Amino acid sequence: MSSVPVITIDGPSASGKGTISQIVADRFAWHFLDSGSLYRLCGLAAYKQGVDLDDEAALVSMIATLNIEFALPEALGQATKICLDGQFVEQQLRNERMATAASRVAALAGVRQALLTLQRNFRQLPGLVADGRDMGTTVFPDATLKIFLLASSEERARRRYKQLKEKGMDVNLSAILNELEARDRRDRERVAAPLRAAEDAEIIDTTAMGIDSVVEKVLACWESGR
Ligand code: DC
Repeated sequence: MSSVPVITIDGPSASGKGTISQIVADRFAWHFLDSGSLYRLCGLAAYKQGVDLDDEAALVSMIATLNIEFALPEALGQATKICLDGQFVEQQLRNERMATAASRVAALAGVRQALLTLQRNFRQLPGLVADGRDMGTTVFPDATLKIFLLASSEERARRRYKQLKEKGMDVNLSAILNELEARDRRDRERVAAPLRAAEDAEIIDTTAMGIDSVVEKVLACWESGR
């Protein structure tokens, strides 16, 4: 068992995991793993290479040959920038097409297995905040603190809509809600490491909470567990 502390923050799409994890990592000056970006990266690479998103064997061989680099952030607490074949691909990963592709490849056990070591390698001193769907159940089952964030699907769709609008994207709220619910269903119903709270996770319903109060609640859980 590793002595490096880990806080896992899991939950459905647009539950605020990414924002909260990044703030907590920043407060502690810890490393930060955005595990969803690895699944998005697989989706992107599959599109680029013409690999079928349901072809598990082909995806697993593709992952083994991917030229992925993590550019160290300028400061701890910031997200690591991902490079595919020497190019920063962050921008290309952040759209609904890649979110859906990620959710499809993430349903395949072989793909999840192929990404396991890559994710566990982020566990380095002084500590790690890991955001995803199965951080507390599968990737870091011995995490020091496990958080599971919830919010109604309408509220999550509104948050995602606002986020994409701010980026200047042309988006539609009801289409976002439909995609989000379809993605949640796929993430929850898959056999391999489905989205669910670990038994020892603290569950926080963020529907009516602002970012600051969620962060305070996570920090309070951390303090009370020490
Ligand atoms: O967090 P995100 O929206 O970037 O994740 C994209 C998809 O990747 C999500 O629908 C499910 C999958 N995923 C996963 O299965 N396990 C994780 N730990 C993170 C993401």
